[in-house]
Amino acid sequence: MAILRIRTFGDPALRQRARPIDQVTRLHRRLVSDMLDTMRAAPGVGLAGPQVGVLERVLVWEIEEEHGAVINPVLLDPSEEMLTAEEGCLSLPGLAYPVERHVRVTVEGVDHRGRPLRIEAEDYMARVFQHEIDHLDGVLFIDRLPEEIRRDARRKLTRQALGFEVVEQTEESL
Ligand code: NI
Repeated sequence: MAILRIRTFGDPALRQRARPIDQVTRLHRRLVSDMLDTMRAAPGVGLAGPQVGVLERVLVWEIEEEHGAVINPVLLDPSEEMLTAEEGCLSLPGLAYPVERHVRVTVEGVDHRGRPLRIEAEDYMARVFQHEIDHLDGVLFIDRLPEEIRRDARRKLTRQALGFEVVEQTEESL
């Protein structure tokens, strides 16, 4: 079991586009296992490569009794129906804001053994995949907030950076 360091706001790794993985190797299986450990310890329900400083397209998730990894995930068939619900992020500890997401999405990619996989996700699970795939593109959930709310988030982040605000992890961060 290995716990990796979770990169937080201000770390350049969070703002880069992660590379596709050409071939899934033993090292990726190790990475996935470490990412699952790190996510559970945080605790969180989703984690993407850049959040642990790995600029490769890999994410892990765990919701209720189910968990998994998706390598090179692609979002397909996003529903027109949208839902706004509160979201938090392990890389932005202490911040939670309502974010609008597609209610249903399909995710295709390969698993930690390189086997093709396809997941039809809805509601919370669909939200987790959209959030994590954003991380692979260097996008944070605060980027998706309306301008005035984003300003409030930036103010909080600045106060945290200066040590004026106590940071407490929110529940169920992604
Ligand atoms: Ni996140």
